[in-house]
Amino acid sequence: MSTTLIELRRARSEDAVALAETHDEAWTAAYRGLIPGPELDKLVQRRGPTWWDAAIRRGSRIVLLNFGEEVAGYANYGRNRAKSLPYTGEIYELYLKPEYQGLGFGSRLFTTAKRDLIQSGQTSLVIWALSDNEPAMNFYRALGGKPIARSTERFGNKVLDKVAFGWAR
Ligand SMILES: CC(C)(COP(=O)(O)OP(=O)(O)OC[C@H]1O[C@@H](n2cnc3c(N)ncnc32)[C@H](O)[C@@H]1OP(=O)(O)O)[C@@H](O)C(=O)NCCC(=O)NCCS
Repeated sequence: MSTTLIELRRARSEDAVALAETHDEAWTAAYRGLIPGPELDKLVQRRGPTWWDAAIRRGSRIVLLNFGEEVAGYANYGRNRAKSLPYTGEIYELYLKPEYQGLGFGSRLFTTAKRDLIQSGQTSLVIWALSDNEPAMNFYRALGGKPIARSTERFGNKVLDKVAFGWAR
């Protein structure tokens, strides 16, 4: 019998290549057909290893989930960017490679990010999801998030609705 180690930890510089690959796979699978192709390609290309390395070096909070030797997913988070919302923390991104979805890993990333935000004094948090991203919408509802705001985001010639989910402590 073999066991595979599942590890959640802060990202380090040497994770930059794996994070860029994870971002690419997860975003391409989640948004192909939703975000126009050229826009999605741009979003992925600008987030190569150099971007991730710089983010890690400047102290951005990024937690990754390792399944054995492989990075299965990540979450990054910090202060809430939308000052109009009375929530202090924000999870900016939470993404798993397709083959690691539906196994409870998203919940573990969420819990880890939320705990870290609480430890750094953030008493509440928001996460934005595109309304058409049904798996994400269902996931945040299942985790107890309450829809608290709506907005739109333009991707090339397409405008998509998005929803903010909120968690009070
Ligand atoms: C959304 C995402 C992070 C969820 O992570 P996950 O590991 O698949 O979710 P979990 O297994 O932890 O599921 C937790 C609960 O959420 C709900 N849920 C998760 N995915 C769901 C789906 N596709 N449809 C319906 N409910 C879902 C379920 O209620 C589940 O509880 P259960 O296992 O008791 O049924 C993951 O699927 C993912 O990375 N998707 C692509 C990227 C993405 O869209 N990220 C969010 C951007 S805003």
